[in-house]
Amino acid sequence: MTDKNITSLTIRQPDDWHLHLRDGAMLQAVLPETTRHFGRAIIMPNLVPPVVTAQQATAYRDRIMAALPDGSHFQPLMTLYLTEDTDPEDVAAAHAAGIATAVKLYPAGATTNSASGVSDFTKVRPVLEKMAEIGMPLCVHGEVTNSEIDIFDREAVFIDKVLKPLRKKTPDLKVVMEHVTTQDAVDYVRDSSKNLAATITTHHLIINRNHILAGGIKPHYYCLPVAKRELHRVALVQAAISGDKRFFLGTDSAPHTDPAKLQACGCAGCFTATNTMSCLAEVFDAAGALSKLEAFASLNGPRYYGLDANDRTITLTKGDAVQYPSHIDTQDGPVTVFEPGFDLHWSVKVNA
Ligand code: NCD
Ligand code: ZN
Repeated sequence: MTDKNITSLTIRQPDDWHLHLRDGAMLQAVLPETTRHFGRAIIMPNLVPPVVTAQQATAYRDRIMAALPDGSHFQPLMTLYLTEDTDPEDVAAAHAAGIATAVKLYPAGATTNSASGVSDFTKVRPVLEKMAEIGMPLCVHGEVTNSEIDIFDREAVFIDKVLKPLRKKTPDLKVVMEHVTTQDAVDYVRDSSKNLAATITTHHLIINRNHILAGGIKPHYYCLPVAKRELHRVALVQAAISGDKRFFLGTDSAPHTDPAKLQACGCAGCFTATNTMSCLAEVFDAAGALSKLEAFASLNGPRYYGLDANDRTITLTKGDAVQYPSHIDTQDGPVTVFEPGFDLHWSVKVNA
């Protein structure tokens, strides 16, 4: 049977290696959208104020655990937001205690709530050295922020100007280049011999920049890093379906309310938690690569992070179009669910 004829697929339960859950009412509303299908997720620390210390990460994890739907086995994997004042010993202690799985690097000003990020990389060198020593991964938002660099070039320039020198100086540091959006990033990861992997989002496998800008502006497709040309989207799909262990799913599902998205200066972020697995199944099916979905969504991530794959399984079944809600209601306002632009035929069931 070729992949194209498969109508049912059972795989290990997937994890999301890059997720925004926010806090308060928003956390309460969006958390079930992730826990419905996913076993674990790497939780982004870009709250206001950011999650910088072990103590803040513990408190945030407690709030997430308190918001879990009854009976949920979901496990949040916490990250610490790297600032120029981050204490290497606090990071090491958080890692040793199992409080923080990774550290997140935002170049200052790169994206939503990144003002406390890093401008002077020499200031974070002691933290990076410590992380290399203890084997703690660094999750990287890979975009330069200089206003003179074209927004479509910011990832490629980041690789040359920041990531290459950083990895040369600290070759033992385990790096995850997050939400890669370019052929350049895919090539860079493929050419590296060790300590580098990349996450790919659901939406970057589906949209290119035309989806945002052609035929009227579509704020719900605006995210950072911004989607690039079609050739880059195709490169991302090729990486995702390749089975290459260095590429895995990080949805970057990033809820913003509709009023925050639909304004003269709208927020960046696509909310994909709800329908991600159906979207991915559609993408992998169309590429004749359903047999590689488990590696991308469920196996490669834990392997890179040194964790076991989930014991539970999910079953994806192909049938009539599956309906997902167009938006999620939150006490802060509605959050629009990512619209892939095609019917979704794969339903998802988590097996007991
Ligand atoms: C994220 C957010 O809203 O927090 N937005 C986004 O466009 N992806 C921040 C981020 O990951 O860049
Ligand atoms: Zn993100």
